[in-house]
Amino acid sequence: MALKTTNPTKTNSWKKLESHFSDIKSKHLKEFFSSDKNRIKDLSISWEDFYVDFSKNRITKKTLSLFNELAEEVHLKDAIERYFTGDIINKTEGRAVLHTALRASRDTKVYVDGEDVIPEVYQVREKIRSFSEAVINGSHKGYTGKAITDIVNIGIGGSDLGPAMVVDSLKYYQNHLKPHFVSNVDGDHYQEIVKELNPETTLFVIVSKTFTTQETLSNANSIRNWFLKSTPKDAIAKHFVAVSTNIESVKAFGIDEANIFPMKDWVGGRFSLWSAVGLSISLAVGNDNFENLLDGAKEMDIHFRSAPFTKNIPVIAAYLTVWYNNFFGAESEAIIPYTQYLNQFATYLQQGIMESNGKSVDRDGNKTTFETGTLIWGEPGTNSQHAFFQLIHQGTKLIPADFIAFAESLHGNKDHQDKLMSNYIAQTEALMNGKTTEEVRFELKKDGLGKEEIEQLVPFKVFDGNRPTTSIFIKKLAPKSLGKLIAMYEHKIFVQGVIWNIYSYDQFGVELGKQLAKTILNELQSNKLSNNHDESTLGLMRYYNEN
Ligand code: F6P
Repeated sequence: MALKTTNPTKTNSWKKLESHFSDIKSKHLKEFFSSDKNRIKDLSISWEDFYVDFSKNRITKKTLSLFNELAEEVHLKDAIERYFTGDIINKTEGRAVLHTALRASRDTKVYVDGEDVIPEVYQVREKIRSFSEAVINGSHKGYTGKAITDIVNIGIGGSDLGPAMVVDSLKYYQNHLKPHFVSNVDGDHYQEIVKELNPETTLFVIVSKTFTTQETLSNANSIRNWFLKSTPKDAIAKHFVAVSTNIESVKAFGIDEANIFPMKDWVGGRFSLWSAVGLSISLAVGNDNFENLLDGAKEMDIHFRSAPFTKNIPVIAAYLTVWYNNFFGAESEAIIPYTQYLNQFATYLQQGIMESNGKSVDRDGNKTTFETGTLIWGEPGTNSQHAFFQLIHQGTKLIPADFIAFAESLHGNKDHQDKLMSNYIAQTEALMNGKTTEEVRFELKKDGLGKEEIEQLVPFKVFDGNRPTTSIFIKKLAPKSLGKLIAMYEHKIFVQGVIWNIYSYDQFGVELGKQLAKTILNELQSNKLSNNHDESTLGLMRYYNEN
């Protein structure tokens, strides 16, 4: 069984949403607040250590109830059950989508092809625990008997972004092992990293679901050659491990079966950090923290699966994306974490969201007649305030933004934290309220400007406001809360895909470039340029070979 298909724009609720949209599209957020005393109660959710305030969005209670009608018409509840119970919802690749099974409790039963997958999930989790503990406590030694000091994750896409983002986000919780990430096929990337490494004390973790990815295999081969320049061949066993579904190819690469951490094809690359792909996380922050991350995600899974949609964080977050994307015509969404630790969060979500929902064919195989996946971008505040916020405040584009913050500072500098949080809160207030002509005049007058000067400046200093934001306020950045946050976005992606009637779990769009790169590589290396390319492409190939 697969997901049901419904063109969302042909539903009754969509028509109702269209008419509701024309009723409220010109209303200012300030009016929503002044006309509804219950707005915060209705449009915010306190759940565990999360406080999510949706009230600064251009919606009313009615918007949510119409979206709930839409959810019924597109069979969201049924889709959620299929997602969690291992239905083949990734139909185009013939697979279940079960990253949720990787963090489910031990007594859960999830069947794939008639077999409960949970026992194996826990076997792999045990293997991750015992290996990472041995590396961390020094009982796993390098080939000269020294303890490991550095770990290098070699992977790309989901085999890099997830672990890299989590390791960086949890830097505060890191142990003595120094993590490194090699991803780009650009040879300068790995060279810059290995130049500082001692082969005797470095562990390489090759991560590739397919073990066919050009970038990862090239980096793994070059790094193995670099390693073998100063080490005997049998040293590989102590210094190279791999995570993959493709056990045969890993063995052919020269890695002992005992050093292979298996994963399953029902784990999508961009949702795989909870699997053995998270080995680098377990090594860098310790397995207890890795398990806490998984536990946090499990709690969000339970919330998502059981909370009514009007109090369901990922569901409402997804409604908002559809609302702005399909009704207001917004093309992008910004993710602004007010913590430097989440520096890589937007980059990570770019793959999660854009690789999943960047589709233009519906689940019936027809071209969609409406907009789907949004552009995702962002940088931490307050840095981003001094970079691109001007455009969010006064530009011509509507950019809904998620503002994420953690109330407690990890190092505990209260003064800095007060400043950071004031900025976090002030920005959403400013984006909502803006600044009126009267306010601008009043301020300029107070600054001592003359009448003429004031009138000249007024148009430039007015802020319309009415720019929507969602505030996701969390008590403290910890493995568990981070797990919840990541899982929240995973489920939001799922709900969007269900509403848009697309398949979120394949990524055929990345294949064509890979194919052409192979052909071009052969031609460049043999210096036999074929005529199967257009003039522009040939020109670039010639330029490369001549320089
Ligand atoms: O970019 C395409 C992609 O297939 C991603 O979905 C995946 O995360 C990445 O390549 C890496 O793939 P693999 O883990 O098989 O090396």
